[in-house]
Amino acid sequence: MKGTIEVRLTLNGEPRAERVDSRLLLVELIRGVLDAKGTRVGCLTGDCGACTVSIDGEVRKSCLVLAASISGNDVRTIEGIGGIGALQEAFIAENGFQCGFCTSGMIIAAADLLKRNALPSHEEIRRAISGNLCRCTGYESIVNAIYRAAHGRHACARSNVA
Ligand code: FES
Ligand code: FES
Repeated sequence: MKGTIEVRLTLNGEPRAERVDSRLLLVELIRGVLDAKGTRVGCLTGDCGACTVSIDGEVRKSCLVLAASISGNDVRTIEGIGGIGALQEAFIAENGFQCGFCTSGMIIAAADLLKRNALPSHEEIRRAISGNLCRCTGYESIVNAIYRAAHGRHACARSNVA
């Protein structure tokens, strides 16, 4: 069909193939075609991070990726993070969300950080989520949640507040 392209990917471990408009964004493919609605759409300009996913282990903003550029890649969304894990429990314990719009992108970014750096400092956490905007929390509770997930405790005695 003219103007369409076959896209093959693995979404959260499941092989998928769809013929889509060649101008479709990856976030539109994920949400609208593959029905994984945990990934959010905020700005569509790469600024807010709500659409953050992992592609082949690399954190990417899916509104900046054309679905047509995906070819057999391993795409992970919040649905692929699994059930209530340490990160999600820590977000609950530290009140790391209010409206929750940013949360899936935050958790994808945090999971990527903890994969690379098991015991990050507050400053390293802030750097890792610097591409993710939150309009509700003021960030402190999100940083505390990621710190708790990594260190197993609240960082009340920390000395490196960013
Ligand atoms: S929707 Fe992609 S960065 Fe905002
Ligand atoms: S919790 Fe509302 S935008 Fe972050």
